[in-house]
Amino acid sequence: MSVQLIENPKEMQRLAENLRLAGYKVGFVPTMGALHAGHLSLVKIAKAKADRVVMSIFVNPLQFAPHEDFSRYPRPFERDVELATQAGVDVLFHPTMEELYGERFESYVALERTSQGLEGEIRPTHFRGVATVVTKLFNITKPHIAVFGEKDAQQLSLVRNLVRDLNFDVEILAAPIVREPDGLAMSSRNVYLSAEERQQATALYKSLKFAEAKIAQGERNTHAIEHMVTEFIVAHAALAKVEYVAIVNAEDFQRVEHLCDGQDYYLLIAARFGNVRLLDNLHIWL
Ligand code: PAJ
Repeated sequence: MSVQLIENPKEMQRLAENLRLAGYKVGFVPTMGALHAGHLSLVKIAKAKADRVVMSIFVNPLQFAPHEDFSRYPRPFERDVELATQAGVDVLFHPTMEELYGERFESYVALERTSQGLEGEIRPTHFRGVATVVTKLFNITKPHIAVFGEKDAQQLSLVRNLVRDLNFDVEILAAPIVREPDGLAMSSRNVYLSAEERQQATALYKSLKFAEAKIAQGERNTHAIEHMVTEFIVAHAALAKVEYVAIVNAEDFQRVEHLCDGQDYYLLIAARFGNVRLLDNLHIWL
């Protein structure tokens, strides 16, 4: 069966309302397209939990700064439709920019705490763009559940806090990171890496595994772990420019000094290879 394509937000809202009235549980997977196995793993989770799956494909200008890669972000739409169909997506919502943000658009959603630090520090308007578009997409697709990837761990935390603070009646599900066979986290931006950068980019995952082993051996000092990870990347990937290596509390994304038993954390990495920014992380459960 082919996927149903919808461009118009009003039409999407009508369809979502009809699905709800017919008693279907609606699952939602928001994306910016250039689909890969990571995105498709989110669809699988949504299908297991919902009766109908809506995916959105929209490269959201609001979450890109003027100097970032909005205009050159990959948009292989026909291939995306094919992949979404194969994965069992029922409805593909792909609005145009004009349809989603009219000329008179002036309402933004911002989170005061989760928007700051780490990604929020390097990309100051990014999370305001994400929170605004996710709010709009929730209002348009009216999902019962929505799936987000741990690949963008700070974004996942932001969405959870947004749902909590604004009382969205949506259950947020987290999907683990899907990786290439050599460990590189799948990303729509990986296609921009040169052969040499692509090869060296595996150092990010290796550095996380290295840290995981140190933690298993009893290391609890976060500064020591962050330092080891940075040194590992510098030693194994000469082309990498490390932007941050940080251990944060999984709940509020605040940095911590020591790892404590019974808690969970994220070890987050952001590194640049040429013009390409890569993110990776390790969820640490103690
Ligand atoms: P995008 O980068 O297309 O990612 C869409 C979803 O796929 C996000 O929840 C992301 O965390 C997840 N994802 C990406 N790579 C993954 C991987 N390797 N393994 C598991 N999940 C992965 O994130 C966005 O789009 C946008 O910010 C969006 C939420 C759509 C708002 O515009």
